[in-house]
Amino acid sequence: MSRIGIYPGSFDPITRGHEDLITRSLAFVDRVVVAVAVNVAKQPLFTQDERLRLIRETVNDSRVEAKAFDGLLVDFAKKVGATVIVRGLRAVSDFEYEFQMALMNRNLAPAIETVFLVPAFDLTYLSSSLVREVARFGGDVSALVHPAVQQALKQKYGR
Ligand code: PNS
Repeated sequence: MSRIGIYPGSFDPITRGHEDLITRSLAFVDRVVVAVAVNVAKQPLFTQDERLRLIRETVNDSRVEAKAFDGLLVDFAKKVGATVIVRGLRAVSDFEYEFQMALMNRNLAPAIETVFLVPAFDLTYLSSSLVREVARFGGDVSALVHPAVQQALKQKYGR
């Protein structure tokens, strides 16, 4: 029986940091479902379809699938047969929010375990919001995102 992990987030857009975590999670799960949250409180730069497309263009691995979800993460995890939620911990500042979320998810679905992964050292300070900001003001994001994402950012910001 294959073990399925779910990697949820906004992915607005997917970065090299996300890619790194997907690769790392394949060391202990057979398949990863990258779950794109539809109802994020933040107003996303990319539409749900654009975010899904960019994940699919970035990650070219038959063990990885990108899907959109609405509602509770644990309900979607059950629906796709995932038993592990994967999240990245970059800095101490991530910890409180991540800890609360993991405990709430365990409360809602005790059989699903949250696993925190540490990103590659050089990607530790990378986030989608920083990538958006750099791209918005014409900075070079080529080392931070896949070329397809770089192109999409250029189109969004017209530079
Ligand atoms: O990229 P983000 O903003 O860190 O992702 C947060 C996300 C989408 C993983 C989280 O907000 C989420 O799981 N939302 C779905 C709603 C839900 O299940 N909430 C209860 C968990 S506390």
